[in-house]
This record gives sequence, structure tokens and C-alpha cells, in this order.
Amino acid sequence: PKEVRVYEFAEAINKPLEDVIEALRELGEERDKNDFLGEEYIETLAEEFDVPVEIYDPLAEFDYVKKYDEQCPEEEFDTERPPIVTIMGHVDHGKTSLLDRIRNSRIAAKEAGGITQHIGAYMVEKDGKKITFIDTPGHEAFTEMRARGAQVTDIAIIVVAANDGVMPQTREAIAHAQAAGVPFIVAVNKIDLPEANPDLVKSQLAEMGIMPVEWGGEYEFVNVSAKTGEGIDDLLETILLQAEMMELKANPKCPAKAVVIESRVEKGKGPVATVIVKNGTLKKQDSFVCGKTFGRVRLIIDDLGKQKKEVLPGEPAEITGFDEAPFAGDTLVAVESDRIAKETAEKWKEYLERREKSKTTKATLEDLQKMI
Ligand code: GTP
Ligand code: MG
Repeated sequence: PKEVRVYEFAEAINKPLEDVIEALRELGEERDKNDFLGEEYIETLAEEFDVPVEIYDPLAEFDYVKKYDEQCPEEEFDTERPPIVTIMGHVDHGKTSLLDRIRNSRIAAKEAGGITQHIGAYMVEKDGKKITFIDTPGHEAFTEMRARGAQVTDIAIIVVAANDGVMPQTREAIAHAQAAGVPFIVAVNKIDLPEANPDLVKSQLAEMGIMPVEWGGEYEFVNVSAKTGEGIDDLLETILLQAEMMELKANPKCPAKAVVIESRVEKGKGPVATVIVKNGTLKKQDSFVCGKTFGRVRLIIDDLGKQKKEVLPGEPAEITGFDEAPFAGDTLVAVESDRIAKETAEKWKEYLERREKSKTTKATLEDLQKMI
């Protein structure tokens, strides 16, 4: 949709085709009349010929998330919100145990085979400040979940067991955080073990360019033990300090925008999704669109299984009321009515289909040109 052919561009700005091709040549671009012009050339050429152009995406009106962001811009975020912190690291390095220790819960003990197989979201309070945690699986089979975790995150905690050191999924987790542009704190866990060697972990990571603060670098390392509780306060304080520097804000008065981090279908409840509210307040009875599906919030359940009436920015919750199960990664946006919710979901479906089609059509044309 944002692509236009050279001859179409010439027609649109009412200039001879040869002039446009010549201008492109001067820019070092050999283009034929049927070639596509990318957005950047449209702008450069428009300047060259001194014609005003407005680039618009005909599908943009279908993009409900973009519309939401225009209506609730970040400049109007005025209220502090809790940081969303994702715990990542190699399998068995103690991610769930750390969270259990922080929350005083016993999830790790109940997991099948002692392996986390899904993403969980929990909220804790420390010194009157809330922190939302996302637990991710460390097993290599769950790369996509780690990537998704990193996407919704403000701060990542990379857990490394001090008796095991840096392992493949430690590196992978760091890569995800870096790719998502998320700052991270290293939690060196299991320091209660006699064979624990936290300095080895430090030097392994330092070699990868992750230099600890105490060695003159900029990465916070905290030694912890999920077993004894040592270092946990220190870790939480480090998280809160980092969050403070980031000045995370939202506007609770806006309609809700939330991200689905997981969904499943439960007997009697229908689709249930774990969401994290990114902005606005999600309320019971809110009509919403969520990717290709839509619905109305029926139940809101917090991480302790208690029912709630609303979810504030930065907070996680499980909600029901979906027409169909949404996909992890989908964005939920509250809208005025069920009718609008349904229409918006249908438009979004069309958006995805047309976007797909426009890609394939373009490829076919290019293939054709090669053949000629
Ligand atoms: P996955 O989610 O499957 O990747 O594992 P995980 O990183 O969540 O590890 P989990 O919390 O399930 O802990 C793995 C094992 O390490 C369990 O047997 C825990 O009891 C043990 N463990 C976790 N933290 C500590 C610790 O600080 N000290 C000791 N000694 N053992 C720990
Ligand atoms: Mg786990």
C-alpha cells in the first residue's frame, strides 16, 4: 500500500516520466517505469520536484491499535505505573523459585516435571510500590515465549545459576532483551550452594560485553538465593531503582489497552486470557476488540484467584468474555460498544488479509518483471 510505481508517481505529481527516472538516476538508483518506489524515495523525489506529498496507508483506518495510540498519546501519560519485569534464563536456573520466594508462593513445586511450560504474570508490592512479574520457561522449546515475554517488558531479569554459569538459553534470553531494547538486571542465583561461583558468572558475562557495575560497567548484578531468601530485597530495590529512572507512566483515565500474554479455553468459562494492561483502566463489562476476536469483560481475576472490578495500568489479570480465544501477543483495546467491537475485529481481519494479499501480489509482479 505504501509502494507506488515510478510511472504512477510521475503521473501523480504531473511531471514527465523521463524526468523522474533521471532524478532517480542522479540519486544512484536505476529504476524502470514499472519499478516500485519506497517511501523514502517518494519523500526525496517530492522534495526534488518541490511538490507536496502526503503518504497515507489506505489500510491505516483498519488499525485499531494505531488509532488508539493517536487518541491516547504517550504525551498525556501522567500517572506512575508499576514496571513490568520479565524473568528469563536457562532451564532450572531458578526463575520460578525466585518468584515464589518474592511472592511467598509455591508454584515451582507444583509444576509438572519441575519445568515451567507457560507464561505467568504476578504482582507484588515492595515498600508500597507495585511490581508486575512475568515468569517464562527456560526450556529451549519455548523460544517464542521468551521472545514474547521480552516484547511486553520494561525490565528483564536474567537469572543465572551460580553453580552452572552461562548456558545457551542465558545467551538467548539476553539476545531477546537486547533485541527488544529492554534493560536488564542479572540475578546470580543459588549462591547458597557450596559449589556456587558468582564471580565465574560475572566474568563469563563480562566476556560477552555485559560488564558488572562493580567492575566499572553498567550492568547491575545481584547475588541471590531463592532457597534462603538472601539478596531478594536487594534485587527488588534494584528493580525499583531502575523503574524509577525509566519514569514509567500511563493514563488510567483512558479506555484500556492490554496485551494478551497467554490464552486458553476453560470448561464453563470459555476462553480465558492472561493480559497485562499497558494503558488505561480495564473494567468489568468493557466491550473490547482483541485481534480477530472481540467480546465483553465478564470476569476479572487477579493472580491470587480473587475477583476484581478493574485492572490498572501495568497490572496483570485473567479475563473472560471473549467470543473466541485470542492469540498471545494480540492487543486488546476497549471500545464504546459491542457493535463497534465486532466491527473493529472484522476490519482487523480484513486488514490482515489485505496486507497479506498486497505482499503476495507485489512478489508476483516482481517475479514477472524478472522473467521478461
Ligand atoms: P524452568 O522454568 O523450567 O526453566 O526452571 P526455573 O528456572 O523456573 O527453575 P525452578 O525455579 O523450577 O528451579 C529449578 C530447581 O532449582 C528446583 O529444584 C529448585 O528447588 C532449585 N533451586 C532454585 N533456586 C535455588 C536456590 O537459590 N538454591 C538452591 N539450592 N536451589 C534452587
Ligand atoms: Mg520456571
